[in-house]
Amino acid sequence: MAAQRNTGTGSESGAASAVRLAAEGVTVGYGGRMVIDELDVAIPPGVITTIIGPNGCGKSTLLRTLSRLLKPAGGTVVLDGEDIAGLKTRDVAKKLGLLPQAPVAPDGLTVADLVARGRHPHQSWLRQWSSDDAGVVERALAMTGVSDLAGRSVDALSGGQRQRVWISMTLAQGTDLLLLDEPTTYLDLAHAIDVLDLVDDLHEAGRTVVMVLHDLNLAVRYSDNLIVMRDGAILAQGHPRDVITAGLLHEAFGLRAKVIDDPVGDRPLIVPIGRAHVRSA
Ligand SMILES: Nc1ncnc2c1ncn2[C@@H]1O[C@H](COP(=O)(O)OP(=O)(O)OP(=O)(O)O)[C@@H](O)[C@H]1O
Ligand SMILES: [Mg+2]
Repeated sequence: MAAQRNTGTGSESGAASAVRLAAEGVTVGYGGRMVIDELDVAIPPGVITTIIGPNGCGKSTLLRTLSRLLKPAGGTVVLDGEDIAGLKTRDVAKKLGLLPQAPVAPDGLTVADLVARGRHPHQSWLRQWSSDDAGVVERALAMTGVSDLAGRSVDALSGGQRQRVWISMTLAQGTDLLLLDEPTTYLDLAHAIDVLDLVDDLHEAGRTVVMVLHDLNLAVRYSDNLIVMRDGAILAQGHPRDVITAGLLHEAFGLRAKVIDDPVGDRPLIVPIGRAHVRSA
């Protein structure tokens, strides 16, 4: 494996315990309609976990519940051994950073100001903005290649630029637990790979990452733990090599696919079979 790489923002949340984050018997939904029913899941520390599953199966709902944005109707989310419901918002934000699926910035806010908001959990009337904070923000901007955009208004950026700025804000929070809901949305393939390489650097530096991805082959390549969801439940969980089969892909997504060896790695490669392939066969 690669040697420890310096990835900038530094961890500020203390040592990892056996399980950083877990859902225990969690039931959660919206306005009385439950999406997830009595779900158990444990997020292993220091590993990239990726949640995959069809649209509407509950991936974002699970991520939001794990980060305390949604309050479960039943069950408990445990963060570093404590019920997350009993923790102060600021304390949760010092441990855990969430990139939501569709974040919205206030009108006219600049990139630098948005990313600086990632430092808010670390400030108080006793501890005001410092040069340390400025350094963390600068590094977070550089890590996603958006330093040049610092003075621009967030709402005047392209979708991909905006996505990288939001990732910077999440990094500026300096947590060693990162929950990223579709971090590669809107990114061209080269930028998507850049962001996933950055996620891998963060992992190499000891961070725990939970993300949602729709590109199954990137999910397989970049994570050591896959959680496969369907209809609000977990169908399978484990190392991609153990989890990904043509049968599972059909069960989860109704997708016809061939699973072959990846020519540039030691993991499975998913080759989807669409109607066009059948026609030309
Ligand atoms: N704010 C909301 N109010 C009511 N229902 C919601 C809300 N957000 C999501 N849902 C519903 O909850 C279910 C799960 O949604 P969720 O966003 O968790 O899916 P997902 O797996 O993240 O899908 P996608 O891949 O499209 O992002 C869906 O049926 C969705 O319509
Ligand atoms: Mg979602």
